[in-house]
Amino acid sequence: MNDFPQVRTARPRRYLMCRPTYFEVTYSINPWMDPAQPVDTDLAVAQWEQLLALHRSLGHQVELIDPLPGYPDMVYAANGATVVDGRVLGVRFRNAERAAEGPAYLEWFRARGYRELCDPVHVNEGEGDFLATAGWLLAGTGFRSSPEAHAEAQEFFGRPVISLELVDPRFYHLDTALTVLDGDEIMYYPEAFSAGSQAVLRRLFPDAILVSEADAEVFGLNAVSDGLHVILPEAASGVMRQLRERGFRPIGTDLSELLKGGGSAKCCTLVIRDSSRGAAYIAG
Ligand code: ARG
Repeated sequence: MNDFPQVRTARPRRYLMCRPTYFEVTYSINPWMDPAQPVDTDLAVAQWEQLLALHRSLGHQVELIDPLPGYPDMVYAANGATVVDGRVLGVRFRNAERAAEGPAYLEWFRARGYRELCDPVHVNEGEGDFLATAGWLLAGTGFRSSPEAHAEAQEFFGRPVISLELVDPRFYHLDTALTVLDGDEIMYYPEAFSAGSQAVLRRLFPDAILVSEADAEVFGLNAVSDGLHVILPEAASGVMRQLRERGFRPIGTDLSELLKGGGSAKCCTLVIRDSSRGAAYIAG
């Protein structure tokens, strides 16, 4: 009784990740970060290594960027850029604590031969707030990326940008409140968005999976999908069930140390969407 594909297909992807060698929580720029709480950096590295191994075991190509000492949040590689059709939109962080990460990520792409690069004027935190579906670029604002950055992204990519207002500080980046699963299929936690943005999401994605607060709170929406496998925190049991009902294969991970910085699987994984003519291109 629905139009969802009966057979799901995993598409090979290219990811960029950054080892949490210098991970710690020394400042607080989101409600999850408590510098008084101890962090086990070795455990963070071990959990991150498992995520890396998991991506590779699913057949994805994972590139690595060198971590910078003094930049503990650099592990959240999703904040490093937005790459669509081989075009690289760099980032500009809201908080001074992360400022130097932007140029480091942009340089990584420049050094690897990417020529269509944009060093942005307005604050945007990469795939933390920009998520590509087949048809649109969904864009979060309210806590980090500015609305002006949405216009900048639309002009740079030539793709319609859908601005969405985040209203709950626990879900301060779009990728904590919404996941693109495949093509134009998404899942999200409605209450993370303003009433108007909820209406936009219902209009564009009437068949979306709606996720509970309990699952969103354990970062169940900070998930990475290749069209079949969906990697997400194992604690998000409700989402796991919803995904199975739709024919996806959820895979639970434990990234408890990285949760202390306010991030999980998706935050640690930047998707590199190369040119639509190249084999590595994946819509969404
Ligand atoms: N501590 C980081 C910050 O507040 C976490 C970033 C999480 N990344 C993400 N893509 N949501 O900026």
